[in-house]
Amino acid sequence: MKILFIGDVVGSPGRDMVRTYLPKLKAKYHPQLTIINGENAAGGRGITEAIYRFFLDAGANVITLGNHTWDNKDIFNFIEEVKYLARPANFSENNPGTGLVFSKINNLEVAVISLQGRTFMPASECPFQRAEMLVEKAKEKTNIIFIDFHAEATSEKQAMGWFLDGKATAVIGTHTHVQTADNRILPNGTAYLSDVGMTGPYDGILGMERSAVLKRFTTGLPVRFEVPKTGRHQLSGCLIDVNEKTGMANSIERIMINDDHPFVDF
Ligand SMILES: [Fe+2]
Repeated sequence: MKILFIGDVVGSPGRDMVRTYLPKLKAKYHPQLTIINGENAAGGRGITEAIYRFFLDAGANVITLGNHTWDNKDIFNFIEEVKYLARPANFSENNPGTGLVFSKINNLEVAVISLQGRTFMPASECPFQRAEMLVEKAKEKTNIIFIDFHAEATSEKQAMGWFLDGKATAVIGTHTHVQTADNRILPNGTAYLSDVGMTGPYDGILGMERSAVLKRFTTGLPVRFEVPKTGRHQLSGCLIDVNEKTGMANSIERIMINDDHPFVDF
């Protein structure tokens, strides 16, 4: 089976790219499961119920989150009610929501786990211990286990990849918004990519209006970052081909759509 993962959708530019290109990507690659990281989907911070439902209507099966999970207060109105939304599993035990979601595609069960790093990130429980625990739990139902590791440090992401090699189908990094070129299958069969990249404004800085970011860097003054309303857009993702019998990955390829890498339909 094939799993399509679309990286950090930022604001309305990111949602526009999902609306336009997810049908084209599905027609081209025929993924059985589509996962979207939507933690920046509401104006760059958090997600709303309407946006969660928009992603499912657009063709996604599971939505993952990250450090901005609680930034749009609407999350508290629906996180306990919906089935296909995974927030970092290593948040405090008493937080609402879950970090392990199952999606059934035909007769195949797929587990999706969200985890957050601890290096240069807000405090959380240990992602490694939580990963080990949840992979064990997921294996009671399926050996196809996708992990979105939302983390800042490449070292921590690589560590998670090696930690779960042969245990998870894929360990894919999110959060840093710039796609890395290190997609590979680790020796025991886990697909790995340090960061899948961002879906949203192409000419901003990590998806935010660049004039505000430049002002912060050049003056040190507090500046509020906003998602630019105009300009060019991009989509970042990856496609993982999975051996359904073993739960290990056959291949992982990167997907990048922007004016410098136009979508090719073949
Ligand atoms: Fe993030």
